[in-house]
Amino acid sequence: MKIFFYCNRDILLEFSKHVQVLGDTLSEVISEALGLNSNHLKDMGSVEGLSAACHYYPACPEPELTMGTTNHSDPDFFTVLLQDHVGGLQVHHENQWVDVSPLRGGLIINIGDILQLVSNNKLKSSEHRVLAKREGPRISVACFFRPGMQSTKVYGPIKELLSEQNPPLYRETTVRDYAAYFFAKGLDGEPALTHFLL
Ligand code: OGA
Ligand code: NI
Repeated sequence: MKIFFYCNRDILLEFSKHVQVLGDTLSEVISEALGLNSNHLKDMGSVEGLSAACHYYPACPEPELTMGTTNHSDPDFFTVLLQDHVGGLQVHHENQWVDVSPLRGGLIINIGDILQLVSNNKLKSSEHRVLAKREGPRISVACFFRPGMQSTKVYGPIKELLSEQNPPLYRETTVRDYAAYFFAKGLDGEPALTHFLL
């Protein structure tokens, strides 16, 4: 169980300025990693919207009976995640849940579903979850890069990444339609992206 809370506004604004700079750089290096011009993802709107979710996970007396956050991948291009020293974050890798151990001063970058869709599976969104812990509270700040939830910009696999051997795997959609599907479905453990497969 987790609780969203509002951080001190000035701190969050200051923090988000730095995260935005990091996001701009990430957008460039990820574009280059895909073999595209460094501005490609930015021109698509990858870093035009930034929203932060601040989580407070209370200490849990019976962690075997609950979850902090159920497994999901993020509905965005990518996420910059700050977690404190308590731990509990896990990433799904080769059919196993692997602990993402807290690293003081470290940030975690998660690839999100929109990046998987536009990269036509060249980049895979990370499936992750948060275990409930006896120790606590645990605090984390997730910064999501994506255009506003009401954006009607159309996203489909990037043409430059397609060929006869690499046909498009996903149909085109908008952030608005994708987000509406993601949130209506809820964090039920099923990937949202499969709904957009051709
Ligand atoms: C999320 C998320 C992880 C955490 O908000 O999408 O995965 O550590 N949060 O709270
Ligand atoms: Ni997440």
